Amino acid sequence: MPSAMQALELGTREVHARVEARLRPHLEHVAATAAHTRVLAVLLGVHEPLDARLRPWSATVPDWAPPDRPALLRADLAAAGWSAERIGAVPRCAPAGLPDVRSLPEALGASYVVEGSALGGLLVSRWLRDNLGLRPDQLRFYLGDGEPARRRFRAFGGCVERVVDGPGAVAAAVDAARRTFDAFERWFARHVPPVSVG
Ligand code: HEM
Repeated sequence: MPSAMQALELGTREVHARVEARLRPHLEHVAATAAHTRVLAVLLGVHEPLDARLRPWSATVPDWAPPDRPALLRADLAAAGWSAERIGAVPRCAPAGLPDVRSLPEALGASYVVEGSALGGLLVSRWLRDNLGLRPDQLRFYLGDGEPARRRFRAFGGCVERVVDGPGAVAAAVDAARRTFDAFERWFARHVPPVSVG
């Protein structure tokens, strides 16, 4: 039987490929800071309410302290010259657009999506550094809070394996992860224009 983390990866592989394909063209060969900050604003709109929903759960698990990603997104927008007023006016995802979280396994499944996205963030930070010449203090969200993403993700995986125990809990976590990816996908479908490649 696959471990909880393997089940999460397998259960969300397809939707990951779709959200990555939606975002990648806006970030990989980005030539203007405005294009990059538009994506940051879309991410803020979903990460901020999702973080508020998940934080009460993470507070109950020892050794699980997610970085304040909404604060990192706001800091990067501010570093790009966005005023507090403009950042405040960014549309936020309504509660009904977010996954329901009713148990700790579900909270960990939803958090898997957020924690895993930091692995892609490292790649994105390199594109933005190379294409736009951005410095680390302008890439705080994609670089994370300073703790290398892969090490963070391994530590998070340790929490998941400890807490998400038994087939029922694994199924609940995978279901929550899928619903979380669906929420990102719906949000991107509304706010990130499709780009046809090739
Ligand atoms: C341009 C956009 C993206 C790129 C280029 C990207 C790329 C990647 C890469 C390279 C990995 C690491 C694979 C590995 O080394 O094992 C990864 C993992 C992951 N990404 Fe993304 N990603 C993107 C967007 C996202 C988004 C928007 C989300 C969530 C909404 C997400 C969720 C995840 C998750 C959960 C994993 C962990 C998979 C595992 O269990 O190993 N990614 N991504």
